Amino acid sequence: MKHVTAGSLQMAVHAVGSGRPLVLLHGFPMDHRMWSGQEPLADAVRLIAPDLRGFGASHIDPGSRIESIQQLADDVAALLEALHVTESVTVCGLSMGGYVAQHLAARHPRLVGSLILCDTRFDADTAQAREARSRLSEHVARHGAKAAAEAMLPNLLAARHEPTPADRARRELVREMILATPAETIRQALAALAARPDMTACMEAFDRPTLLVVGEEDRITPPDLLERLASRMPAASLLVVPGCGHLPPLESPEVFNRGVLAFLKGPAAAAAGGC
Ligand code: MLT
Repeated sequence: MKHVTAGSLQMAVHAVGSGRPLVLLHGFPMDHRMWSGQEPLADAVRLIAPDLRGFGASHIDPGSRIESIQQLADDVAALLEALHVTESVTVCGLSMGGYVAQHLAARHPRLVGSLILCDTRFDADTAQAREARSRLSEHVARHGAKAAAEAMLPNLLAARHEPTPADRARRELVREMILATPAETIRQALAALAARPDMTACMEAFDRPTLLVVGEEDRITPPDLLERLASRMPAASLLVVPGCGHLPPLESPEVFNRGVLAFLKGPAAAAAGGC
């Protein structure tokens, strides 16, 4: 893990491997550790897994704050510039990371050669979703990050009748990531998530190779939603990962990594003119 000056931000990033870059953008309210199961991909590509502004080890100064999902996308563009990444990259984002990936593609098209969008959506929040975020934000103001952990944990991972030690360790890691997120970051991110614009038209026009991934048991962004999104994009395919909830890269890393490698060696490589 190192810190890189990205624009006005000291951004923490886990970077490992060599070759074509694969940028991994975490979900809310987590950090780069949710990609720990993707470490083996570093045998094939250069993994770049930042902690987004305010999350993990990317602390922000008192005075500075999360303003919008677009700002988080601009932070990633600044990070790539700071890392001297000049070629177009594959950007893989999960849920909130997927929103950031979409904005990166829209705002910095030269940077994004292909997309992997996991357990995410294109549309904006409904009024009901915005109200739920505002209620959660109030709870977090009163009780800290543990209010977010209590509200979110039951929906993030697929339910298991008989959890294995590995299932328990995954659940613990998710809890740990949420509890490590400052309450202010959670509240600012909730406001940014609630205000994010509808990206449907933009993504339906995105003609570069795209892999959509979803956990078979995802209750937050269910498979039928991702199936619909894939069918409306010009160059998208869909991977449904069996037995997973909202976090397939963490819940089923082998299946997820196989799907990603096939995409990187197939459609993504073809669009980039070879591996
Ligand atoms: C996430 O996992 O990043 C969140 O579910 C995103 C959201 O709340 O929209």
